[in-house]
Amino acid sequence: MAGLVSRRVRRRRLRVAAGIVAAVTTAHDPTPALPVFADVDTGVDDAMALVYLLASTDADVVGIASTGGNVDVDQVCRNNLGLLQLCGATDIPVSRGADQPLSAAMRTAEDTHGPAGLGYAELPRHDREPTSYDSAEAWVRAAHAHPGELIGLVTGPLTNLALALRAEPTLPSLLRRLVIMGGSFDYRGNTTPVAEWNISVDPEAAAEVFTAWGRAADAKQIAVQDVPIVCGLNLTENIALTPAILHRLGIAAGSSTMAMSVLDARGTHSVADNPLIRVLEDAMRFYFEFHFDQGEGFLAHLHDPLAAAVALDPALIGTRPTTVDVELTGTLTRGMTIADWSRRWGRAPNAQVGVQVDPPAFFERFISRVGPFARGLAHS
Ligand code: RIB
Ligand code: CA
Repeated sequence: MAGLVSRRVRRRRLRVAAGIVAAVTTAHDPTPALPVFADVDTGVDDAMALVYLLASTDADVVGIASTGGNVDVDQVCRNNLGLLQLCGATDIPVSRGADQPLSAAMRTAEDTHGPAGLGYAELPRHDREPTSYDSAEAWVRAAHAHPGELIGLVTGPLTNLALALRAEPTLPSLLRRLVIMGGSFDYRGNTTPVAEWNISVDPEAAAEVFTAWGRAADAKQIAVQDVPIVCGLNLTENIALTPAILHRLGIAAGSSTMAMSVLDARGTHSVADNPLIRVLEDAMRFYFEFHFDQGEGFLAHLHDPLAAAVALDPALIGTRPTTVDVELTGTLTRGMTIADWSRRWGRAPNAQVGVQVDPPAFFERFISRVGPFARGLAHS
């Protein structure tokens, strides 16, 4: 236990150090850190989201659930544990989720995120294991440990959140906030013409989650403004990380760094001397190459980091309340998220759908937090 306490104290000192650096440039914010539980399918942008949370002095990550998605659940566990080792946050418990979706066959996306889920990046070795309890249990334990205060963030398929709801049906009223990166509203899909990846991997789980929050709102167990904030592709594809912006991050971290170019040889390794910047650059290069091959340019949509930033500060985006449901049986539309904007279903709103964001404001906040945090790691 003593070791855990000293590690937690060290992590807090790291964050405070980063906070002090950040406070020099921004007004110090005395609000206490918010307890955050992150359910991720780490992947490149999930890793960026976790780093953002670890770099944020207003966030206290109390647990991480690993969900299969971008890569299989065991690889997600390894990525989460390795990333925490790199960031000096080895006191944060990581749990292992279900082996597969509720009923669909497991699918993964190594073409998008790389064979191990983090592009060309290599994480430090570690000797940590996931918790003895699974991710659904981890959700429930975290919610009971922080009743009414816990902020839930899901940036992968909703399999383990759905399993947690089955185990603890009062979860909607136990959480202070839930932010989901998933779906696509009046906008294209990225997995089928109409379905977004996180929803597409486990549509049944997503449907159970939206139904549960809808029932809680209907029964007045939660207020409408406390239904999940949903960051779909219509919102997150506005957050396009470019080599120039990534270069700014390296500079903010005080790292040696070179702006990437689509003309670089594929797989060119980062020259960053900062250990975290090196991992992020090697991960992002693979993601840039994937987006380029998709015809979207040498850039990367930061879906999950935006959701993480919204989890800490919902005012970063504009939202509209509506009722959301998920198509489960459509031959061409399975996994599609439908928003009942015109209230034809007559059901209570179960989501605040993100509809507006200011990309420069997001990147300013991301760099002002992650830059000093990475700098602090170099000297720890
Ligand atoms: O559709 C984008 C989402 O799917 C992101 O969370 C990405 O990490 C993948 O999980
Ligand atoms: Ca993800």
